[in-house]
Amino acid sequence: MNKLTDTFKLNNGYEIPCVGFGTWQIPNDELCVGSVVKAVECGYRHIDTAAVYGNEKRVGEAIKNCGVKREELFITSKVWNSERGYETTLAAFEKTMNDLCLDYLDLYLIHWPASAYRFKNWEEINLNTWRAMTELYKAGRIKAIGVSNFLPHHLDALMKTEVKPMVNQIEYHPGQIQEHTVDYCNKNGITVEAWSPLGTGKMLKNEVLVKISEKYNVSVAQLCIRFCLQNGILPLPKSVTPSRIKENADVFSFEISKEDMVKINSMEYFAGSGLDPDTEDF
Ligand code: A2P
Repeated sequence: MNKLTDTFKLNNGYEIPCVGFGTWQIPNDELCVGSVVKAVECGYRHIDTAAVYGNEKRVGEAIKNCGVKREELFITSKVWNSERGYETTLAAFEKTMNDLCLDYLDLYLIHWPASAYRFKNWEEINLNTWRAMTELYKAGRIKAIGVSNFLPHHLDALMKTEVKPMVNQIEYHPGQIQEHTVDYCNKNGITVEAWSPLGTGKMLKNEVLVKISEKYNVSVAQLCIRFCLQNGILPLPKSVTPSRIKENADVFSFEISKEDMVKINSMEYFAGSGLDPDTEDF
């Protein structure tokens, strides 16, 4: 990968720009419009949102006003947990499309798996949601479909269906590289995306990372984003600060050495969201 518009090829052949602009925790106001427009100005062509972020209307406004054609942008959204199931997912999709003011979506994801912790029929629920996603995909309303926060045992049932997931978006940053899930996805042709590649900022003061970043004369944020790319993972950094939005796009002029990759890949867990797809109760 040499620039923001270079792509990963999904298992259906559709291409996805290699760094996405994350919008989790950006409020539904002018700041959201300004941040997304700034991101596009800085060269991002891939915007990641979700119904539960509550900012789809403002993301949609930014898409309309950013000066780049819709076809040149890659837009992702996600169906929230309260809308799992067949009919509810279809309805949630329509609401998302209305809020974003779009007539097709590039990627639609199941935001979190229904898990055994909360539901006896968790597998059936996930399959029903997936059936709705598959139908929308086959009708051409969505270019690619996938999941988020799915562990291998959540993915197993979906892998036996007609259309297999193209993406799994998981929490991924130094100290939390989810090897088991990533291996499973690699073996099954599922592209892995990283939410919170900076650990929502918790990576930035880590001494090991600071020391390595200094060697390359980059920030820890840039190091973390580059680290994802060199592991074949698609990062989705979020920022509302113009200088950081620009900085996070500048990750193609240095390369982390093999030794440093090993060092970062072997870091123990030290910070993260603490959310576990098997026990989350929201
Ligand atoms: P802000 O949005 O106020 O600029 P993640 O992408 O892992 O969720 O991390 C997002 C957090 O990291 C936000 O708090 C964001 O702050 C902060 N952040 C993003 N990019 C940078 C950067 N280049 N330097 C420092 N902090 C950053």
